This record gives sequence, structure tokens and C-alpha cells, in this order.
Amino acid sequence: MAVLPIVKLGDPVLRQKARQVSPEELASPEMQGFIDDLIETMHAANGAGLAAPQVGRSVAIAAVHVEDNPRYPYKPKVPLTVFVNPTLTPLSEDAALLYEGCLSVPDLRGRVPRHMHVRVQALDRYGAPLDFEVKGLTAGTYQHEFDHLEGLLFVDRVQDPSTFSTWANFDRFHKAAFVEEARALVNRYGS
Ligand code: NI
Repeated sequence: MAVLPIVKLGDPVLRQKARQVSPEELASPEMQGFIDDLIETMHAANGAGLAAPQVGRSVAIAAVHVEDNPRYPYKPKVPLTVFVNPTLTPLSEDAALLYEGCLSVPDLRGRVPRHMHVRVQALDRYGAPLDFEVKGLTAGTYQHEFDHLEGLLFVDRVQDPSTFSTWANFDRFHKAAFVEEARALVNRYGS
């Protein structure tokens, strides 16, 4: 296991559409070791999620895991989930403007519209099919990681650039109000 370097905004790998992974390739010891490294890197960086392109590898694999995360203290817990070759389908018109950040975009946050109810279809790390629904802030986390596999970053989705903020200024000027919004979303959607 190893903590891998996280690539940053401007690296072309973040702008490529990640390629699908075959079941045989997914099952290989090399790819299983890579997935272990992806998870370890996500944990070391306190990420709520991490996608393979963020460690320089353009394959359609990402992980999410939220458990008392200091970067996102208002996020409800999400069990460790690795998802491969995903498709995401919105299941309602409900959307919310969430403040997001990204390990590949240092010291920047901004408000991004996200669907509040999506279906995730993918493979797990062992090639078994996954098919589940996620709501609220957790739905936003999945959409953020899915975007990485499409070559998109949260900055692309910010509709009002005046919402861009450093992390320190988010804490100083915007956090208190957003924590209230986040709490209301968790109450409404259950996550
Ligand atoms: Ni990100």
C-alpha cells in the first residue's frame, strides 16, 4: 500500500474521460493494489472521495468514504465504497447549491448545483454489480467523483463565480450559513 501523489488543476489527466475497466483487468493483482493505494491516498488526504484520474491514472474507478471528516464536518457518514465504470441517473428534479472543494483544486471552494436524488449503477472493486440510490449531500459527493471520471471539475459547474472562496474565507464568511443549509438538506433527504 502506498499514498500516491495527487495531481492538481492544469494536469491534462484531469480533463480526459477515464476509460472503462474490463472485469479481467479489474481482478488483476496490479489493479487491486492500485485500488488499495487509491483508498489509502483518499484517507491520508482526508478526502470525502477520490477518483483515479486524481492520482494520474485515467481509468473509471473512484472511491467515497465519509466518517467525521475534518474537511467537511457537516457531511453525513458514507461507508467506504469503490465504484467502477459508473453511470449516474438523476431520479428527481430536486437540486441544491452545495459548497464543494476538491483535493485537485487547492484552497478553493465554490457553490455547485447538484441533483438531490440519483441512481448509481457500477461495479464494485471485485466486479460485482452495484445498483443503489443516494440522496442529499451524499448524492452530491457521488456526482463530484463521477464528474472526475468524465474529465470535469467542480469549478466547471460553478454558476456564480462570486461564490468562489478560499477555505479560510469559507470558514470565516460562509461556513455558518452553509452548515445550516446542509443540516436542512440532511433533515429533508436523510443524508
Ligand atoms: Ni474532486
